[in-house]
Amino acid sequence: MKNLNSYKAKFKQFNNVKELLTIFDSFNTYAQKLESSYTQLQERVKKIDQEMAYTNECLNKKVLELDNQTRFLNSILGSMHSGVVAVDNDGKIMTFNNVAESTLNVIARDVLGNSFRSSFSHIGGFVDLLLESMLKNREINNLKRVIEMDDGETRNIESSISILKDENGAITGAVETFFDLSEICELKGRLNSASDLVSVGTMAASIAHEIRNPLNGIEGFASLLERDLEGDNLRLVKHIIKGTKNINEIVTDLLFLARPIKLNLRRYELPKIIDKALLFVDQELGNKGCKNIQIEKDYDSSDGFILCDPDRLQQAFLNILLNAIQSMPEGGKIRIFTRKSTTKDIPTTQIGFVDTGDGINDGTIKKIFEPFFTTKDDGTGLGLAIVRKIIELHEGRINIFSGPEKGTTIMVNLPGNQNEVLNTSRETNFLSNVLA
Ligand SMILES: Nc1ncnc2c1ncn2[C@@H]1O[C@H](COP(=O)(O)OP(=O)(O)O)[C@@H](O)[C@H]1O
Ligand SMILES: [Mg+2]
Repeated sequence: MKNLNSYKAKFKQFNNVKELLTIFDSFNTYAQKLESSYTQLQERVKKIDQEMAYTNECLNKKVLELDNQTRFLNSILGSMHSGVVAVDNDGKIMTFNNVAESTLNVIARDVLGNSFRSSFSHIGGFVDLLLESMLKNREINNLKRVIEMDDGETRNIESSISILKDENGAITGAVETFFDLSEICELKGRLNSASDLVSVGTMAASIAHEIRNPLNGIEGFASLLERDLEGDNLRLVKHIIKGTKNINEIVTDLLFLARPIKLNLRRYELPKIIDKALLFVDQELGNKGCKNIQIEKDYDSSDGFILCDPDRLQQAFLNILLNAIQSMPEGGKIRIFTRKSTTKDIPTTQIGFVDTGDGINDGTIKKIFEPFFTTKDDGTGLGLAIVRKIIELHEGRINIFSGPEKGTTIMVNLPGNQNEVLNTSRETNFLSNVLA
């Protein structure tokens, strides 16, 4: 009996071992399956890794390409002679090149990504054209218009607008390209006044000598008579002498405008030139008995030497100063300042004449450099034409800022590096053909 029981137990044990073996078997099978799945998975991961590396490489290439294209586009935009501004559909600024920066006095990094309307709200008449064109889906070609900068200065620009669209024709933004026409307009104006001067020259050349000879005769006889006459007759002769002197001065001025002028260039102290002109002004003030004019000098303290024709510059400064005095019959103040600055990367010497006189209105200011334009009963209208000629011979510029009752500021800009700029033997061939 005891044996039977132990057999039974052994059999049970045997059965348990069999079960265990079966379990081991199936475990083995699963382990093998797992191993092969793991290997497969490893291979897939390897493949995905390779694919990822390839995609990454492609992406890097694309980014590089895009980078190159952006740089290329930026260099094209940078080398363009017109301003370019592009906005997206929401009116945000996406592109703004360097010509746009200098024309609109705005730095690209201050406006990129910002609203076009608010970035340029300080420039009168600029933003509406682009935004309205985009709104109305209307392109614009070469439209001439005037914009007003925040300092009140106006600029003539010519704008073209293109609308940007995606492949479905939906509007994605707009681009405006614009040229600053101000310099061209100014050049046109100068060309017109140059041709005015040519006609003056023709006339002056033909009449100057005709007038001068008899005039000198009249003056000579009058001077002889002056010695012999008395009383009312003497007064009349003095009038004749003064009249002939005036006519002589006009003829001299006309000939100055008409003839080609050769500058006698040397290095000279600018303050000295102004002071010499002021000496003549003193005489003028003394003669007219008007002592009520204050002169304030504000000269740049650094080296005041410039390359110039001192006599000619003195003549120009005197004409400017006399006009200033004549604009203040009740007296006032003239401030004269000099300073060094830089205009378009060229060192410049500026000379400013600021008066508190009756000023010039908008309509008049355009004409004041025209020969014979005068608002004075006894004016000749040649003073500023001569000033401009002298300043331009020095390759300088003259600007006027004025308004009625606001006084007048005349700014003379002379190139500071005149040693390089001016050719000392240069002569104006201006009108030379007229007098040849
Ligand atoms: N500082 C100034 N203030 C007011 N008006 C001026 C001034 N300078 C020039 N003008 C105006 O410009 C005109 C032309 O000046 P100009 O050529 O010197 O001729 P003129 O002095 O003989 O009139 C003057 O008649 C005057 O109307
Ligand atoms: Mg004058």
